[in-house]
Amino acid sequence: MPRITINKIREMKQKGEKITMLTAYDYVTAKLVDEAGIPLILVGDSLGMVVLGYETTIPVTIEEMLHHTRAVVRGTSRALIVGDMPFMTYHLNTEQALSNAAKFIQEAGTQAVKLEGGVTVADKVKRIVECGIPVMGHIGLTPQSINQIGGHRIQGKTLEVAARILDDAKALEQAGAFAVVLETVPAALAKLITGKISIPTIGIGAGIGCDGQVQVINDVLGSYTDFVPKHAKQYAKLVDVMSNAISQYHEEVTTGKFPTKENSFPMDESILEALKGK
Ligand code: KIV
Repeated sequence: MPRITINKIREMKQKGEKITMLTAYDYVTAKLVDEAGIPLILVGDSLGMVVLGYETTIPVTIEEMLHHTRAVVRGTSRALIVGDMPFMTYHLNTEQALSNAAKFIQEAGTQAVKLEGGVTVADKVKRIVECGIPVMGHIGLTPQSINQIGGHRIQGKTLEVAARILDDAKALEQAGAFAVVLETVPAALAKLITGKISIPTIGIGAGIGCDGQVQVINDVLGSYTDFVPKHAKQYAKLVDVMSNAISQYHEEVTTGKFPTKENSFPMDESILEALKGK
């Protein structure tokens, strides 16, 4: 089956079909997400926290993103892969934004990029799209700006901020973005924005009224426990499974239960005898 295209994603909104998006950061996980038929995979800069152990997404570099993105692309054949542009790789000017967006497409093999911001980045989005690179926007809570926002807090509870987020959504639509992530905004605001723009809204902590949903895979699998956001639902508790397996292995090595004959390679007795005499 050919890869999902941005036209297919747009069509899903028009037909009222819900869109699933999930993050992935490595080959094995990406393969599972792709095989599950999920149409959109985001190699999010959240990898800085859930894979690399940074406190925020701010230290993530483009080299780290490209390294993980290549692995995700290698593990997939059907999903549309979106590469997340890290902090300060698209802020300086349009040419910087374009040349870094191109790295995701040319060097890592994604079909699209994502960047944070609305009105303030619309000129960059327009230029990138004009050069043939599909862009997904990201507004509401934008984690790369947490120092400015004052933490991971809900956005759009006042008329002023809600109106700004609506303007951001419209600016991204105007600039040619094919979809927009709405992060941590009131459900009613996300529903209103979804009805006012023609491009799909993909919510995270934005309620049921969005055209689609995105989650960080570690939250869905229960494999990252430093911080579990309120909007996340753990469909498994992988951290317990992993921890049990690691402890059991440790116990079996120290008590001599592992490896068994089944985990070892046999040798011809005559060769062994010959060696003993040496
Ligand atoms: O980096 C990421 O995983 C994201 C999602 C939370 C939308 O940007």
